Amino acid sequence: MRLDRYLSQVTTLSRSQARNIIRAGRVRVDGHPVKQPANQVDLQVEVVLDERTLAPPQSCYYMLNKPLGVVCATQDPSQRTVMDLLDIPRLDRLHIVGRLDIDASGLLLLTDDGQWSHRITAPVTHCTKTYWVTLAEPLTEYDAGQLHRGIHLKNESKPTRPAEIEIVSDCKLYVTITEGKYHQVKRMFAALGNRVESLHRESIGRLKLDEALGAGDYRPLSPEEVALF
Ligand code: URA
Repeated sequence: MRLDRYLSQVTTLSRSQARNIIRAGRVRVDGHPVKQPANQVDLQVEVVLDERTLAPPQSCYYMLNKPLGVVCATQDPSQRTVMDLLDIPRLDRLHIVGRLDIDASGLLLLTDDGQWSHRITAPVTHCTKTYWVTLAEPLTEYDAGQLHRGIHLKNESKPTRPAEIEIVSDCKLYVTITEGKYHQVKRMFAALGNRVESLHRESIGRLKLDEALGAGDYRPLSPEEVALF
């Protein structure tokens, strides 16, 4: 993490105040004065401001049951965002871990820990995402096979990775994918001539949406949940 960010997380200083203080030579990292606000520091170092040793920042992790009709963005000029649902101090340090469309609901993760979110979203990790899907038309066995074999989506060079399908009734199913392409689930079913009518994310990896959370509710993750990734 950048030193100015570190400072703004563990004190009441804003980022620009932190930058000025660092440039003024008032900060030492592991005993050495550091005057560059962009210098990277990890959480193991000792940071001293004037003569005071600062407690390292605690990362925070939340799950939100995203309701329909809000956008996954930190700011939006015209629409309500998921950030508007959160009453959390220092909201500006959180980022969204993998987006959901405005007309999709369910499990959304937010954190200020970039390495943790990278482990979830980096394409190489193939982290699973399970969606509860309602379709306009019943899913045929042939189409279920296609989803498992991989589908060529428009403007993509490779077919989708195998999706797992659990059919619950004609038009209702669980779909588990291990990628996060743009509008992936909707595009997969559109490519089969079908249409997604509703999409709700149930889980990410082994982390399930807490059933006690109503639409728009959120809670911090437990240490055990954080350790799943
Ligand atoms: N796939 C979609 O099409 N939309 C989402 O929001 C998530 C996955």
